[in-house]
Amino acid sequence: MLTNRIRNAALERRIMSADKAAELFATGMTVGMSGFTKAGDCKALPDALARRAREDGLRLSIVTGASLGNDSDGMMAEAGLIERRMPFQADARLRREINAGRVMFTDQHLSETVEQLRCGNLPPIDIAVVEAAAIHEDGSLVLTTSVGNTASFVEQARKVVVELNLAMPLALEGLHDIYTPGARPAREPIPLTSVSQRIGAPVLRVDPERIAAIVITDSADSPSGNLPPDAETQAIAGHVVQFFSAEVGAGRLSPALQPLQAGIGTIANAVLHGLLESSFNGMTMYSEVLQDSTFELLDSGQLTFASASSITLSAGMNQKLLDNVERYASRLVLRPQEISNHPEIVRRLGIIAINTALEFDIYGNVNSTHVGGTHMMNGIGGSGDFARNAHLSIFVTKSVAKDGAISSVVPMVPHVDHTEHDVDIVVTEWGLADLRGLAPRERAALIIERCVHPHYRDMLRSYHRRACAAGGHTPHLLGEAFEWHQRYAATGCMRATEAATV
Ligand code: COA
Repeated sequence: MLTNRIRNAALERRIMSADKAAELFATGMTVGMSGFTKAGDCKALPDALARRAREDGLRLSIVTGASLGNDSDGMMAEAGLIERRMPFQADARLRREINAGRVMFTDQHLSETVEQLRCGNLPPIDIAVVEAAAIHEDGSLVLTTSVGNTASFVEQARKVVVELNLAMPLALEGLHDIYTPGARPAREPIPLTSVSQRIGAPVLRVDPERIAAIVITDSADSPSGNLPPDAETQAIAGHVVQFFSAEVGAGRLSPALQPLQAGIGTIANAVLHGLLESSFNGMTMYSEVLQDSTFELLDSGQLTFASASSITLSAGMNQKLLDNVERYASRLVLRPQEISNHPEIVRRLGIIAINTALEFDIYGNVNSTHVGGTHMMNGIGGSGDFARNAHLSIFVTKSVAKDGAISSVVPMVPHVDHTEHDVDIVVTEWGLADLRGLAPRERAALIIERCVHPHYRDMLRSYHRRACAAGGHTPHLLGEAFEWHQRYAATGCMRATEAATV
């Protein structure tokens, strides 16, 4: 079985336990780990490194593609292993350590991390830990369910630890397209002009001499935690589909739309799911993560091709994919995240980007990351890579959170991830506001009437009316702009008394 997976007999001598491989690491090192939104992450080393942290105080900077599965981020954080973490996470326990100031987290555009590493803005990767399905005779790795930043980690690392995962089918070979842009400032244009184009190699080239350890694992990726569509997310999807239909009717989009990107999470997944009910056909995706909805659309025949950096699915859909890789292979490609999210390509292909906001304000500035303006949720992920450069930049959210105690539309967001300049359309279950070409005062009027929950509409009307009376291009009452967040912190609800809204 292993000769099928390790096609270089000399490398078999580097097979060792995860605990033995963990001895290669020393405090102060920067470690690049494969893994992107729970897909293709290493399954054994995080545990072994956490054990070392508990036993001898090992501390590392951990850089990944995005979030890890298998509880790895939380477990490593609680063991005290993680000194620094970038560029994204989505784990409740790591989040707690970050917000307590015990882990230094750099929240970064996902296309940017490897550029920063390459040019020396960040300390170099000492050791790369990579999940693979097979190792070729020349050391090349067949990656698994994500590519993420792995290619650049391996290029930079002095040593490479391979986790060879026997649960990953060999049929994954050929799914990947590994391309690394040249050095700046003389870099050539990235030669990708269509969603399905392949511009790199199907395997990740590694000098076998740098493979310091091979650890055998045998476990699946963690399932995505997405909730099934509910009445609100279905309503959001309905508004988006209706908007696309109107754009097709107006001749601005074809029935194939334009390449779609959909962000992580329940809401963006539900919006794509909503396209199943539509008449759009010949659609493509150029996204960073493929969720269940992508495979439903591939199965329905409405989606013809999907390009991304990772595949993160529910347990059932994951098994279906792994059992039928050959059936999907000709319609899928996984790329490094700097290519899946590259601003040059997002702009060139004219992508329709659909991402989720925690909250947005009456002018369309979006907070995707900081609860209450201060506490990290997950991170900006790739939403900024896409939003700024997209043909259409759409943000979706439910109009209220925490059973209505929080309005997701507020006078002013207390943290801005996406400025009004990068946001074309905002959508809640109440409606869609098309902000294209509008001035701030017009944007505010439309957002308030179309997107705000009725419980908060009068409060926002009042705020905007009084702000406009005070004047300005983007009118605000600075002493009052964050009152809603302060009131929630003090009372557990953003709603004001009747008197305060007149
Ligand atoms: N204030 C405080 N909390 C809020 C909130 C607000 N305005 N809006 C939502 N929340 C809370 C929800 O109550 C929920 O909390 P819970 O986990 O305790 O139940 C949580 O945020 C997630 O919200 P949910 O409605 O389930 O949406 P989601 O699963 O679609 O996630 C984001 C929404 C914004 C957290 C998520 O999309 C994200 O991290 N985005 C940033 C990264 C990104 O966009 N990447 C895209 C490229 S892949």
